[in-house]
Amino acid sequence: MAAPRQSNFDDPFYQSADRFFPENSHLALTYDDITLATLYSEILPRDTQLDTQLAESLRLNIPVISADMDTVTESRMAIAMALNGGLGLIHYNMPEHEQLYEVSRVKNHIHGLIQEPIKVEPHQLIGDVLAMIEQRKFGFSTFPVVDKKGKLVGLLSGHVVKPRYAKKKVSEALTPRSQVHTVKKKELGKDPIARADKFFTEHIGIHKLLVVDDKDHLCGLITMSDVERITQERNAQFKPARDSHFRLVCGAAVSATRNAFGELDRKRILNHVTALLERGMDVVAVSTAHGHSKGVGDTVRVLRDAFPELPIIAGNVTSAAAVEFLADCGANAVKVGQGPGSICTTRIVAGVGIPQMTALYICAQAAAKKKVAILADGGITKSGDLVKALTLSQAVICGGIFAGCNEAPGEIIEISGKLYKRYRGMGSYAAMKAGSAARYGHEKHATQKVAPEGVEALKEACGSVDRVLEQLVGGIQSGMGYLGAKNLTQLHDKARYIRVSPAGMREAAPHDVVELKTGN
Ligand code: XMP
Repeated sequence: MAAPRQSNFDDPFYQSADRFFPENSHLALTYDDITLATLYSEILPRDTQLDTQLAESLRLNIPVISADMDTVTESRMAIAMALNGGLGLIHYNMPEHEQLYEVSRVKNHIHGLIQEPIKVEPHQLIGDVLAMIEQRKFGFSTFPVVDKKGKLVGLLSGHVVKPRYAKKKVSEALTPRSQVHTVKKKELGKDPIARADKFFTEHIGIHKLLVVDDKDHLCGLITMSDVERITQERNAQFKPARDSHFRLVCGAAVSATRNAFGELDRKRILNHVTALLERGMDVVAVSTAHGHSKGVGDTVRVLRDAFPELPIIAGNVTSAAAVEFLADCGANAVKVGQGPGSICTTRIVAGVGIPQMTALYICAQAAAKKKVAILADGGITKSGDLVKALTLSQAVICGGIFAGCNEAPGEIIEISGKLYKRYRGMGSYAAMKAGSAARYGHEKHATQKVAPEGVEALKEACGSVDRVLEQLVGGIQSGMGYLGAKNLTQLHDKARYIRVSPAGMREAAPHDVVELKTGN
């Protein structure tokens, strides 16, 4: 049977982007101001494809990126994002050498190998180890034991980490080196998981395999539970995002760094990006609050001239002129978002910024003309927002949604029995004090006289990124199923929009019920 045509009755109400946004040009709209109309579909959510191209050499398997913020993306988050098919942008609110190290950790990540396991030393007391488990809320109690130089001395098994042994030294309780199972890192081969899987099958009751170098320094740990999880995941629909050498992809952010005379410090920027590239970085993000500026344009130009093939993200902007400007300077993808972020106060402090859907539409026009990608940055609070953002962009950048995850930097904090993690704007007083002032056009470490454009906040702890992404990706697939869109290009083409009234917005959320459980 032929596919039913769209009815003309729908057209005046459910409009294409090119009709809807110009007709609403008097009003700046964001995610909750609009809804997407359903369309005839032959597409099941599970059959949708979410891969997206951000530059010639940068393809992701899901269109989701974790924000370059110091409470969101360091190596742990970037690894988790890439393993799920997305991308993490390592923030720059740290010394340059540390950022290099963070990128190296992502690029050297071997799936299933914990590269820096928590270790203990022989002179410590079991009581100290118990206190550390309690303080850092570890869900495990077996630890490799190493000497001061990192050489393996033994293994402290969970069954001796008990209060009754609190006064004993680790050296008295450990399983000695000679009885600990290890494998040399170079022997892990191309498929470390298969190697470890075989080991665990052959060694009944052993759940941990320690990895050492030629000098017996500890350089990793593989656990049976991780191996089992990964083996199951191999059938997952969305494969990890990898480079041509099968390493996980990783991005890093830089600012338009200035020297003591207030001029762009070209040499320092070039040296640092060269070093990032030597570590294997796949994409650089020139990340500032105001991308339509000389400093950002010059930085992008300098990088484009020096590295013709390097994928460059630049931002943030909210106008077509700014997209054209950054594209002409050499950017491949442009971050769109000024003030939508959950911790942002730019619109309140500076009176500047545009609600996301309108900003995305305007920027997408210029992006199509210049053949660059658009990244919708900030303001995403639910998977439905992602679907709406993806009707006008190639990928979405999220901060707050990931800030409560285990993989985000920072410890879990307990307040009145609830677990939280800290989340702060890069323009908050605390983040600028730690070094991010340049992002907001202020001198580095200059925080006394400037108005912060972000807040410090808490996010409820929400478990692993895998779980959060599963929900988000499931939502995107659902949305695409409703629109009959097999891939992101079809989502762009097919999307039909309509405004939502405040009552319509209330209708969209659970109402007139006593909610027992939210989501999962
Ligand atoms: P979400 O909504 O995902 O937003 O938490 C993350 C994005 O917010 C931007 N960002 C800021 N914007 N002041 C701002 O106006 C800030 O202090 C700030 N810190 C981050 C950034 O684009 C990020 O990806």
